[in-house]
Order: sequence, then C-alpha cells, then structure tokens
Amino acid sequence: MLNIVTNRRGGAAIRATGLHLASVLFGIVAGCGSTAPEGYEPHLRYAPRTDPVILAPPAEQPTAAPDPLKLEEYLAGSAGRGAKVLSASDIPAAPREQMNQTLDALFGTPAAPAMPAGIAAVGGLSLDAETLAHGSASYRVRCSSCHGMSGDGRGVGAGFPYPRDFRRGQFKRTTGNARNGKPRVEDLIRVIRGGVPGTSMPLFDLLPDADVDALAAYAIHLSIRGEVEELLIRGLHPDSDEDIADVTAAGRSAAGKSHRQWIEAQVPGAVYTQPELEGEALTESIRRGRRQFANNACLSCHESYGRTQSYRFDIWGLPNKIPDLTQPEYRWGREPADLGRTLKHGIAPANMPVVILKDDEVADLVNFLRALPYPAKLPADTGVDR
Ligand code: HEC
Ligand code: HEC
Repeated sequence: MLNIVTNRRGGAAIRATGLHLASVLFGIVAGCGSTAPEGYEPHLRYAPRTDPVILAPPAEQPTAAPDPLKLEEYLAGSAGRGAKVLSASDIPAAPREQMNQTLDALFGTPAAPAMPAGIAAVGGLSLDAETLAHGSASYRVRCSSCHGMSGDGRGVGAGFPYPRDFRRGQFKRTTGNARNGKPRVEDLIRVIRGGVPGTSMPLFDLLPDADVDALAAYAIHLSIRGEVEELLIRGLHPDSDEDIADVTAAGRSAAGKSHRQWIEAQVPGAVYTQPELEGEALTESIRRGRRQFANNACLSCHESYGRTQSYRFDIWGLPNKIPDLTQPEYRWGREPADLGRTLKHGIAPANMPVVILKDDEVADLVNFLRALPYPAKLPADTGVDR
C-alpha cells in the first residue's frame, strides 16, 4: 500500500505501510534512473474518460472541498448540484467506440505515445516519439501518482489543492502573449523545477534538463490528447448541434486546433516590471495599494485577505480555496514580476479576474501584497488587523 499524503505545509510525503514496504521502496529506487527499466505494459491503453465534461459549474459556490480520492464520485454528482455537464456515457456505443479507437490511433499508448502525423515535427514543441517515450517513462514514476496515467489529475496521491487535470488544456501559469490558457514550455519547466508552493506539487529541481524537457513535452501530449477527447465528447454527444460524420477527421482537426494554440502560446508576453521604491515613497505606495484592494472588490472574494475558509468553483467544476494572501507562500510567486503578472493576466481557470488598472496602481497593489504577510512592513494606519 503506497499513500502519498499532503503534509501540513503542503509538501508531499510518501507513506508506505505493511508488508509491501520493501517492494514499494524497491519500486521507487528502480524507477529513479532517467531510463526506467520498467515502463508501461505494451498492451496498456489510456483509459477512456468516465467523468463528465463540466460546461458550467453549479451557480452556488461550494462550502468545502471533497476528499481528493473521491473526485470521480463528486463530479458524477455535479449535475444534481446544478452544474451543466456532458457525459461520454450518453454517446451511443458505436460512435463512442470509434472515438476511443481514434484517440488510440492518433495518440498511441502510454508505452508508445505519439502525436498525429504532421503535428509532431512542426512547432518546436519536441513532440516526437522518442522524446514522448522518454517523458512517459519518467512521468510514470514521478507524476502519475498525482496527475493520473491519462493526465486527469486523479492519482492516488492527489491532495488538496487537487493536482492539475491536463485534459482541459487550461493552465494557471501562462506567460505567453496569446492568452489562450496554454502555457509556454518555459512555464511548464518552471512549475516542474520549482513546484507550486503551498500545494503538494513537488520540486523536481535536481533532474537533468533532458528529463524535464521530456516531461514538459509529455504533459503537452496528455493535454492535447485530453482536449481532443473532450472536444469529441462535446461533438458526438446527443445534445450537440454538431454533426460529426467522420470521427477520425474530427479528431485530427481538433488535435490540429489545440496544437496551433500551443504554438501561439509560445510567443512571450511582456515581462512586468515596476520602479523600486523605498522609505516614505514605499510606505505611501503600500497605503494606496491597501485602498486599491478595498476599492476593487478584491475583498469580495479574498474576504479578510483570504483568511476565511472560502471556496470557489474552478473551470474543472471542483472547489478551489481562495488563497490566504497574508501567508507568504503564493502559488504563482511573490516577486514583483510574478505578482504583476498574476494581477494583469488574472488566473482564468480559477476565475481570479484580470485587474484592469493603470500601471502605477498595479505597482501599489503589488507593494501592498508584498508587505501584507509581514506586520512590521505594514504602515500602522493601513487598517489591516494583523
Ligand atoms: C504529490 C502530487 C503531485 C506530483 C507527484 C506532481 N504534481 Fe504536478 N501538480 C500537483 C498540484 C497539487 C498542482 C497544483 C494545482 C493548482 O495549483 O491548482 C500541480 C500542478 C501541475 C501543473 C500545472 C501548472 C499550471 O500552470 O497550471 C503541471 C504542468 C504539473 N503539475 C506537472 C507535473 C509533472 C510533470 C510532474 C512529475 C514530474 C508532477 N506535476 C508531479 C501535484 C503533483
Ligand atoms: C471572483 C473572485 C476573486 C476576486 C474578485 C479576486 N480574486 Fe484573487 N484569486 C481568486 C482565486 C480563486 C484565486 C486562486 C487562484 C489559484 O487557483 O491559484 C486568486 C488568487 C490570487 C492571487 C495569487 C495568489 C497565489 O497563491 O499566487 C493574488 C495575488 C490575488 N488573487 C490578488 C487579488 C487582488 C489584488 C484582487 C483585487 C484586485 C483579487 N485577487 C480579486 C479569486 C478572486
């Protein structure tokens, strides 16, 4: 029995119990090399999607987060809570089987992952069969326990916040110009190397570059595959207006569309910078930032700066906790460049809005957020009870 549990500080810890301890440890050690001796069985297929596609989460916000190991059951109950959903199981058996065969033909198997012909070679995303096979072997050992074999985020090691479900094709760290929800490869590498603070997403900072590059490529593969599956479910569903005559052609076209978005997302966006202030100028800026926070409805979600336990649905239809901004660990970084990006881009999949303010007003908010966790840095008259 192998359990990856989330400890209080959000780090992942591996707990092995009972007589299987030795074999579990052996498994971990055996899988540590960059060329894992045990890969996936050749006959193994990516499991067809069973959870519903969430078109819109319930109108009423959640009051708690479900058990990370029961997300499948939770999502199955989404329609009953008022969410708009589509289920693959509503698709008649024949087109559903065609869909699964199309996905296998286009994207291969975990042991031999592939991209549809014509896609792998273009766009500079390293989606060739060799890189993907390397990435898949490494993913199996390092990532699938949380992100799941097909990238659905439902691994046995899942904690809260839940690991990313790659199948929606939407990510939270995206520094590209295109703003289509797809990250730059650099963003993926930063997340893999640096982890996501305050969550169970670990740091893989000691892996060789070749491994990290292959892991990023494989995450893109799983994401495109999952997005194509979702688009086919939307198109083939009896409620859909689309009329798909040729499932293979529809799958190819969906793959092409997602792949194009990934390429567009690689164009870097502007890097946020702001003037460095000190002394009284900084204190004044922090005071103005505190007023911006109150005036821009930040408090409507980040009530008491996020110190209350409140939750909001994300686009995956799962409860996400409103972050406590008085704690110095921010998922998406606390450097001015990170905070400025968070505010100016928003975090669309979590419904954190884009803050439309002038540059000097954003800078004030950034200075306020940088001081917020540290009472000594907050001017006494800001009205924040710390
Ligand atoms: C112990 C569980 C765990 C493991 C192991 C794990 N992750 Fe994660 N991963 C998470 C969590 C939790 C998040 C953050 C979810 C959030 O912030 O909403 C995440 C987020 C991500 C993201 C999304 C970042 C974004 O911008 O949205 C990527 C990409 C990712 N992980 C890749 C990987 C890869 C590749 C591996 C293996 C090398 C891996 N993860 C291993 C738990 C894990
Ligand atoms: C509609 C609700 C909502 C509003 C309004 C809102 N936020 Fe957020 N905010 C969120 C959610 C949800 C997240 C979590 C994003 C995630 O999953 O990482 C978040 C995340 C953040 C983060 C990133 C924290 C981290 O861990 O990296 C910052 C900073 C932030 N918000 C600041 C603000 C500021 C400043 C305002 C007002 C201008 C604001 N928010 C308005 C919902 C909101």
